Amino acid sequence: MTQTKPQVQYRDDYQPPHYWIDTLDLDIQLHDSRTEVVAISRIRRNGEHSEPLILNGEHLALLQVAINGVETRQYQQDDESLLLPQVPQEFVLTIKTRINPAANSALEGLYKSGSAFCTQCEAQGFRRITYYLDRPDVLARFSTRITADAAAYPYLLSNGNRVGQGVLDDGRHWVQWQDPFPKPAYLFALVAGDFDVLRDSFTTYSGREVALEIYVDKGNLHRAGHAMDSLKASMAWDEQRCHLEYDLDVYMIVAVDFFNMGAMENKGLNVFNAKFVLADENTATDNDYLDIERVIGHEYFHNWTGNRVTCRDWFQLSLKEGLTVFRDQEFSSDLGSRTVNRIRNVRIIRGPQFAEDAGPMAHPIRPDEVIEMNNFYTLTVYEKGAEVIRMLHTLLGEQAFQRGLALYLQRHDGQAATCNDFVAAMSEASGRDLGRFNRWYGQSGTPVLTVSDDYDADQGRYTLTVRQHTPPTRDQQEKLPLHIPLSLALYSEQGEPITLMREGQSCGPVLDVLEAEHRFVFEQVPSCPTPALLQGFSAPVKLSYPYSDEQLSLLARCSIDEFVRWDAVQMLLNKTVQAQMAAGGETALPRSLVDVFRTILEDPALDRALKAEMLTLPDLGSLLELFEQVDIEVLARVHDRLGLGLAEALQPLWRQAYTDNLTPEYRIEHQDMARRSLKNVALGYLALAGDEARVFEQYRQADNMTDTLAAMKAAVRAGLGSRDAMLTDFEGKWHHDGLVLDNWFRLQATAPGEQTLARVRQLMQHPTFSLSNPNRVRALIGAFTSGNPVQFHRADGAGYDFLLEILSQLNRLNPQVASRLITPLIQFSRLDDARRRMITLRLQQLMAMPDLARDLFEKISKALD
Ligand code: TRP
Ligand code: ZN
Repeated sequence: MTQTKPQVQYRDDYQPPHYWIDTLDLDIQLHDSRTEVVAISRIRRNGEHSEPLILNGEHLALLQVAINGVETRQYQQDDESLLLPQVPQEFVLTIKTRINPAANSALEGLYKSGSAFCTQCEAQGFRRITYYLDRPDVLARFSTRITADAAAYPYLLSNGNRVGQGVLDDGRHWVQWQDPFPKPAYLFALVAGDFDVLRDSFTTYSGREVALEIYVDKGNLHRAGHAMDSLKASMAWDEQRCHLEYDLDVYMIVAVDFFNMGAMENKGLNVFNAKFVLADENTATDNDYLDIERVIGHEYFHNWTGNRVTCRDWFQLSLKEGLTVFRDQEFSSDLGSRTVNRIRNVRIIRGPQFAEDAGPMAHPIRPDEVIEMNNFYTLTVYEKGAEVIRMLHTLLGEQAFQRGLALYLQRHDGQAATCNDFVAAMSEASGRDLGRFNRWYGQSGTPVLTVSDDYDADQGRYTLTVRQHTPPTRDQQEKLPLHIPLSLALYSEQGEPITLMREGQSCGPVLDVLEAEHRFVFEQVPSCPTPALLQGFSAPVKLSYPYSDEQLSLLARCSIDEFVRWDAVQMLLNKTVQAQMAAGGETALPRSLVDVFRTILEDPALDRALKAEMLTLPDLGSLLELFEQVDIEVLARVHDRLGLGLAEALQPLWRQAYTDNLTPEYRIEHQDMARRSLKNVALGYLALAGDEARVFEQYRQADNMTDTLAAMKAAVRAGLGSRDAMLTDFEGKWHHDGLVLDNWFRLQATAPGEQTLARVRQLMQHPTFSLSNPNRVRALIGAFTSGNPVQFHRADGAGYDFLLEILSQLNRLNPQVASRLITPLIQFSRLDDARRRMITLRLQQLMAMPDLARDLFEKISKALD
């Protein structure tokens, strides 16, 4: 909390630290509300200077300071730091502090999750444990001694290797840990509790055996198997694809119920949100299984891209996050369907990431200024950051990319690096000039590629003119041309691919767009072609090309690239929505769209998972991105009518798709998941067409959570009468399990109809709901505010008032979660004037709140600016 105006930090102001810390010995005496921490560090002056030593520290009770073993009172203290004015060249600093984990509802630093102690130190949580140089470019060797009550906390865990343990006569015991790898404080972790442990092992390619341990709440051992399989698959994948091996003798994962994010890559001791660990067929859906695989992979891959090579400063966050997301995307794509993975990632960029670019928090993947670092764990840094890495991969190819990655890791092993270091290694290893490409790191906003073409039949010459333009964003008015890889193919009227010829030679599919306007001439083009542009979404841009319905139908049917087929259907759907909006929402469904849907449904060769994606309508959020300004209620009506129209026009085919894809027994296997997803898409349409019996039948017969939830979802979306019976039955079965019940909260929060807000308020009284558990908050409140745009943006402003009430409580309880929740309230640029006025009023009210945390302050002040 801050009384004074929060300070802005600038990337350009980076200075190396005045002091280094070589070792840190922690001694932590765990008690619920009075934990004592003794931190002994070896400190060394960095260069010649007489600057004081300024350590970060927040919410700490300082008990004692000693230099070289002699207690001193020569220090100055404030809410955020401890200043030692004169210190020797090299010395041992001892600091004793007391903290209160039981009262820590922000879930940063040391806190209690249920009955266990755990830590979250990224980005700046370590300063809530002791006074320290809490910045990622200070790397120290940590040793940690934990002491706690032996009965309540039989497991005491920290980073590295267990080097000692003992029992004390007061019922307490201790364990000593030693981490051989120097690390920044944000990678420190401690866990103490009573768990069930799933154990396994992995032998690395050089023949070292690594013990694998997954710690879960008692009684949940049977739900940890998939996480363990995913961990072993991750270790094998990193060896095979990137030749990277694990480096400690033990890898531990702990699942906790109270966690602000997905998971955390602490060295040798990952802490996970339980929802990314626990799964069995009764409680987890197919997508939950895939999410677990992805997040386990993500945290494991950080061991090289993040831990062995870390970030110099937090402005470089995408150095580890963009790269590690790219790695987890490749992992999921190699294990499952590459096209389906690509489609799902592209949906995130085109929906919420583009919205972030268009909103007040727009920032480059390497931000220039930050008030609260926690606000920059964003879709831009993570997902767009991964797109930037993917573009490098597209430009360099797999081999040169792997050489560049190896060079980067070898050159910076054990160091804190920058995004420039990464690009330099890529450039050196490939021999490519990445000078202009580098602009992707510093420029915010979504570029628009406007493509026009011309066919000269006499010469057989086809000319593409590509213009790029990035509209100004709140943070940056001036934009420069970028290096954009534009992947394309040309198709004849019969849907045959045309060989690409430029300057007398055949050429590859990727064009380097470098200038504001760039022309590409193709020769020996026998007939006027249809271009497949931006294949595989080869750059995170908006594409504008005047495709006709016929051209899109052709691409949807004939493209060799499966992604292009999906994308063509998306464009056709977008065109339909735009046309209907222009006509006031009252036109009939175009024949061409129905025909394309029919062709997809009847295509026996098409992968079922891909079919399911092609037949799924874009959500309201990404449709909003098609307009400058729009009445969201009209848009929602058009969206609904589109679904209903397709449901009715193709009813026999939906029925066929449903019955053809029933699976006899539940197996977690990609072919079966594909069947279920197609079957359940069909069920959604059948529900809209009124086939209530089938929906209820599926609910009653389901032997797995995927089918159970699909039936409930279909019923809720279509407003079927039987939904209440299902919801009641579900609650009766699962009220004891928060993770499962989150699905039930989410479903009701995203239900159509104006009674939904009242129902959400009522559900907050449910015994399983708690404002202090981030998973519950996201499932109920987050699902309503960002997953139910129509009801959140109710014309009477009641949705806004609701969020206001919640935020004023969460601001104090958990500022990080509050700050994530406010997103739909600050991204109002596409809304009508009346709603914008209502929102502005609410934001002003929030701004006037006493004790407004930095997190909300930063977002609200930018939104009101
Ligand atoms: N490094 C983590 C990841 O990408 C992110 C993370 C986990 C985090 N918990 C956090 C970031 C809390 C900020 C605050 O997997
Ligand atoms: Zn990460």
